[in-house]
Amino acid sequence: MKFTITTPIYYVNDKPHVGHAYATIVADTFARYHRLIGDDVFFLTGTDENSQKNVEAARAAGKTNIQAYLDTQSAVWKETWKQLDISFDDFIRTTEDRHKKGVIDFFNLVREKGDIYKGTYKGLYCKGCEAFVRESDLVNGLCQFHKKTPEVIEEENYFFRCSKYRDQLLSYIEDNPDFVQPVSRRNEIINYIRDHFEDVSISREKSEWGIPLPIDSTHVMYVWFDALINYLTGIGFGWDEKLFDRYWPADVHIVGKDIIKFHCALWPAMLLSAGLPLPKRIFAHGFFTIDGERIGKSMGNAIDPLEIAQIHGLDVLRYFLLREIPFGGDGDFSFARLELRYASDLAKGIGNFVSRVLSLAEKISYSYEKNLGEHEKEAQEACKSAHAQWKQGFEAYALHDCLDAAWDLIRHGDQFIDRTKPWSLITNEKTNAIQIIGILVELVQQVSVLVYPFMPHTAEQIWERLGIKNTQIIGEHSIIGSWRSFKISHIQRGSPLFPLTR
Ligand code: MSP
Repeated sequence: MKFTITTPIYYVNDKPHVGHAYATIVADTFARYHRLIGDDVFFLTGTDENSQKNVEAARAAGKTNIQAYLDTQSAVWKETWKQLDISFDDFIRTTEDRHKKGVIDFFNLVREKGDIYKGTYKGLYCKGCEAFVRESDLVNGLCQFHKKTPEVIEEENYFFRCSKYRDQLLSYIEDNPDFVQPVSRRNEIINYIRDHFEDVSISREKSEWGIPLPIDSTHVMYVWFDALINYLTGIGFGWDEKLFDRYWPADVHIVGKDIIKFHCALWPAMLLSAGLPLPKRIFAHGFFTIDGERIGKSMGNAIDPLEIAQIHGLDVLRYFLLREIPFGGDGDFSFARLELRYASDLAKGIGNFVSRVLSLAEKISYSYEKNLGEHEKEAQEACKSAHAQWKQGFEAYALHDCLDAAWDLIRHGDQFIDRTKPWSLITNEKTNAIQIIGILVELVQQVSVLVYPFMPHTAEQIWERLGIKNTQIIGEHSIIGSWRSFKISHIQRGSPLFPLTR
């Protein structure tokens, strides 16, 4: 099956912080899961470069060549994702020709539909959101997300007649419960579309940066109208029809809860107008805060994910972000919590379990044992149910359930060791000891598969110690979740995966 997943494209007026890394790591986790089970995956990310705030950031940095500034900044984002080992298949920039061409093609489809008209708009504009905001959305006169006073703007510009699609969109959302998730966001969107979804101004006059409107070069395209189209241009729209047909519609757009109106109302209306299929799902995740405050440059509390990865390790960062908040909810980032999770879940959890098993295996020079004796059935059942919960968690976008499944299996393994005490059997009951250790080795292998999408390097380190190659597992549909697919021998215990003294 094909699986297309996207992240939002990021503004480049700043470098990535841990909140952005969270969004991207979430998408990477899904992409890795789907590759693992043999799907044909396309994972798209990129940068949103035609925003006025990028231009202002260039100015503030004393740069006169805006494009050169964007090139440098976009490279910082791409490089950060590479260093975080994000497995994206393409990285789209909205200043690329392939994007600009697709945007013009798309605009023409909407215009031919009769959905573009000229009008005057007066309203409050928040530069942080790059959007007009309603008075009722302000908190003490300030944008609730950016804590800034919006400007009053009155302009003649071009409008997209999205209100025409209001009813169609509402029935689509009603009929397709998975389209907007989680359910709390779905309700929010239904109310928004029903009560507030009006035609959107999609051009700005006298703006010095952006994609010129094909019908009026004195206007540039509204940055959200342009940016949303990246989901098409990033997979071939306007430049590779075959690729586009293979990967569109997207299976899921991963977005933050602050940008759902654009993704769940404006974007589908644009697609309906252009006559293109809608994405299958839009999943809105929550926010990481620091001491309850939104993370951001303007807040002065941005944490660099690369620093955390360098100090604590890439998989520790991934695990912490994915474990700390139930997927879809909010949470606070704290180094104390990270240390706590490191010690309890990683060092004393998976790390200790793997060490215990592999040192036992090394001690008896474990070599593949066919007959695993009386305890095999029980262990096999535990793996089966952990695998089912893990798979169901991914299908239901409940990442925390997947992690619970993996850690339940680790606990099962630990309790099995405590109960059977294999070390005490090595001398006098060797056969029994070998069978128990054989079961434990299999449990380690099964755990490694469950953690792979979340902690790919940890899984790979375990595979190496078990003498299994990545290519023997990733994409091998029949192996994932099946019992004893590998004849494991020659185990190397290696050093602790998560040492307690660092
Ligand atoms: N450029 C737009 C998206 C256009 S998509 C067609 C944008 N960019 S952004 O850089 O401001 O934000 C990108 C994503 O990062 C958003 O989904 C946003 O929710 C997410 N996050 C930014 N800060 C975050 C946290 N503190 N926590 C979790 N996600 C956060 O919006």
